Amino acid sequence: MYREEERELIKRVEATRPQRVGIDFPRMSPEEKIDVLNENHPDYSDKGFRTLRCGVNRGERVPQELADLIEARSRIDAENVDLEMIDYDVDVLIIGGGGAGAAAALEANERGAKVLITTKLRFGDANTIMAEGGIQAADKSDDSPARHYLDVMGGGHYTNVPELAAALVKDAPGAIKWLNDLGVMFDKEDDGTMVTTHGGGTSRKRMHAAADYSGAEIMRVIRDEVRNKGIEVVEFSPAVEILLDTEGKAAGAVLCDIETGRYLVARAKTVIMATGGAGRLHYQGFPTSNHYGATADGLIMGYRVGAELAFADTIQYHPTGVAYPAQIFGALVTEKVRSLGATPLNIDGEQFVYHLETRDVEASAIIRECKVKEKGVPTPTGGHGVWLDTPLIEILNGEGTIEKRLPAMLRMYLKFGIDMRKEPILVYPTLHYQNGGLLIDENGRTKIENLYVAGECAGGIHGKNRLMGNSLLDIIVFGRRAGIHAGSRYRDIEVKELTLDHIESYHKELAENKVETERVSPLLLPSYTHES
Ligand code: FUM
Repeated sequence: MYREEERELIKRVEATRPQRVGIDFPRMSPEEKIDVLNENHPDYSDKGFRTLRCGVNRGERVPQELADLIEARSRIDAENVDLEMIDYDVDVLIIGGGGAGAAAALEANERGAKVLITTKLRFGDANTIMAEGGIQAADKSDDSPARHYLDVMGGGHYTNVPELAAALVKDAPGAIKWLNDLGVMFDKEDDGTMVTTHGGGTSRKRMHAAADYSGAEIMRVIRDEVRNKGIEVVEFSPAVEILLDTEGKAAGAVLCDIETGRYLVARAKTVIMATGGAGRLHYQGFPTSNHYGATADGLIMGYRVGAELAFADTIQYHPTGVAYPAQIFGALVTEKVRSLGATPLNIDGEQFVYHLETRDVEASAIIRECKVKEKGVPTPTGGHGVWLDTPLIEILNGEGTIEKRLPAMLRMYLKFGIDMRKEPILVYPTLHYQNGGLLIDENGRTKIENLYVAGECAGGIHGKNRLMGNSLLDIIVFGRRAGIHAGSRYRDIEVKELTLDHIESYHKELAENKVETERVSPLLLPSYTHES
């Protein structure tokens, strides 16, 4: 509920609204984009980063909080884990129960592999289920994977691994068909064609959505499919360390039963790491749109066995996180709100940036408006944000659009007495996504044999900045690719004796590089308690 102070400021938004109908704010030139990024984007300052002192990426910079976990000790004492007591023995072990893990499981199972999904929380507790705005695919007649490719590369400042970006866009139409055939209820016109919209940085309307709960709808369907196929899922049992065999190939993982604290040994011919993102590390103090378990576990486990990180210093701050009310601070306000026409405005009700610049540029412009130009809007809880003029959506697209296309968002705000059909909302960037992760090839393979990575913990696809809707896409494309590859190879793989020797080697490397720490990782769960 807004107070009298906000209501007064909203009058300025209402006053400028008629001038904004049908008139696009000018887009930034390439030079302006470079300037706004350099001066305002959290990735472009040294604050908040440090260089790694050990491992394959030694000498490279990563966020402080991630560096602390990388340069930490294993949670387990290898001596106390009996590697001859095998609790699970499978062909494909999938670590992570989000969209990438589920997609990989379905494809590997289809190829006859015995698959186990192990997940830290419940099956489906992942960033996938929180995804709102949609999934990109160039499947309309005015579009092509080549156009999509150029957008992906442009969004990533041409730093993306070209082969990975190419694989992403090439498989995209097939990914939509696969999901649609499984039963995902995408938004469709009366004649059955998919409704598609723009996202920031897209040259064509190629965002397919299920209202503003696209991820929940996708997860609902693929999770059901995993269950229907009888694939085994072990919940509340995060992996804490990858197992190698005596030839140095990935051969399973040590799991921790969260309830009993017991360690379990899962032996596998191939391992697919699909543990998701790192928002709960709250880089540079940002709030996050991520789920509770997003603590970079896959990066830590993969790095410790020698898999390489790529673009780990590039973080996505979604331009529009909730700035007010406090109860949902940092939660996602989907980009679809801007796709449908809502514009960002400062305290004077003036637009200061085109509403669909790529995310890094849009977020930087909002940060600049608040911190440098001091034109942000004070929130009732002592913070700041900018207005997102949501009533404009109804004017541009017709009454009832918000209820139809953004029902979850509408409900979320109504709970706090804010009707976004009639009043603008207050937003500020929120930590949303790790652009980088463990480097993969087109089949999701890392340099560690039999270790695959899919989903948000993979790196290289998006380069330094991902576009909206390419994350739901990449979990499906690379989840499926990893599942197909692992599921086609397991018959030829013989696992040798299991070892955890890499832990001792890593600890030795920490000591040699004078890293003194009592910290253990992976983190598994964030802590929100205040130390006194
Ligand atoms: O804004 C959104 O709905 C987020 C989408 C994404 O990160 O792809």
